Amino acid sequence: MFIHDLDCGWMDHPFLRNQFAVNHVEIIQKLQQYGIREVYIDASRGLDVPDDLDIHDGREGVEVEPDGIGQEITVLKTATLQEEMARARTLQKEATQIVHNIFTDIRLSGQIKVELVEPLVEQMIDSIFRNQDALLPLCRLKDHDDYTFQHSVSTCALMIALARGLDMPRDAIREVATGALLHDVGKAVIPDEILKKPGQLTEDEVVCMQSHVEQGVTLLQKTPGIGNIALDIVSQHHERIDGSGYPNKLKGDEIQLHSQMGGIVDVYDAITSDRPYHKGMPPTRALGKMLEWSQHHFKPELVRTFIKAIGIYPSGTLVRLISDRLAIVTEQNEEKSLLPVVRVIYNCKWQHYLEPEEIDLAKSRCQDHIVGHESFEDWGIDPSRWCCG
Ligand SMILES: [Fe+2]
Repeated sequence: MFIHDLDCGWMDHPFLRNQFAVNHVEIIQKLQQYGIREVYIDASRGLDVPDDLDIHDGREGVEVEPDGIGQEITVLKTATLQEEMARARTLQKEATQIVHNIFTDIRLSGQIKVELVEPLVEQMIDSIFRNQDALLPLCRLKDHDDYTFQHSVSTCALMIALARGLDMPRDAIREVATGALLHDVGKAVIPDEILKKPGQLTEDEVVCMQSHVEQGVTLLQKTPGIGNIALDIVSQHHERIDGSGYPNKLKGDEIQLHSQMGGIVDVYDAITSDRPYHKGMPPTRALGKMLEWSQHHFKPELVRTFIKAIGIYPSGTLVRLISDRLAIVTEQNEEKSLLPVVRVIYNCKWQHYLEPEEIDLAKSRCQDHIVGHESFEDWGIDPSRWCCG
């Protein structure tokens, strides 16, 4: 038979395409293994239709790559997760404090102390290069009061991972990371009652909030040592390729590549973070949404590179296994993004917590695998208790 539609999201199956011929029992086994119970078939195509020469073998793509994502990025790790987690925890706290200090300095003197920024960016690049599975999930856990500062730090960490995924040289990574860290500095001059308002902003408040872009550009223009790339990221991170962004409604390639990168990491961090007025989206769902929006907002190939860089199930994601257990993704497996290392914590059938157990889903003897992502909120599980241990 010829499968017309797998009736599930592209991230929920391991096939290269959504449409292909089932011409081997191995494909049926894979469909069952991934929990796919129903498919749509095209009765006018398939091996029983003599004229149908243009059929793809589903086995071509099995366990190679999800549809449209392409080759996986090989990320070498020079530190174990445990080693890097201890350093990253201190770094994330220090980084949040430094961004807090930068905002305070701007409020008091209208100046950015660039000498605070450079060493911090270097340390963050080093941490991501040693083992990005430590700093990235740590950055997603945010305190309500420190949101703006922690969002800046997280956006910077995600930008470094994306830039690394694009094989950018270290000098360029330093520039884009600086832009990401400072992308919202203009918010330092926005009144707290608007910045922290727990609800819908009025029209006037939206105008004020959006002015953080121009305010940020003004601040950076008078700061010695800030390059044009960082300046572009600050001035264009809310522009969208269909012209629906602000402040200048730029379209397509009018928006610099590094500014589009800034837009992607900014939006991803914002929609996956808990805020007073909305709960953060599970990372895998957020990535799917961003791919959906990418035809209007971002360059699709850039979003795909971002997904490859942080994984389809980014570290810190809650997932459900075929064994009916819940697990936290702790570490990405190079070349097998559907089979990361996970920490099993909960039995869904018996509805109780388990003694945490690390499982490498890529190990050949491992019988378990991910059937989908889950929401911490739906299960009443506190991510800060189980992630980044
Ligand atoms: Fe912004």
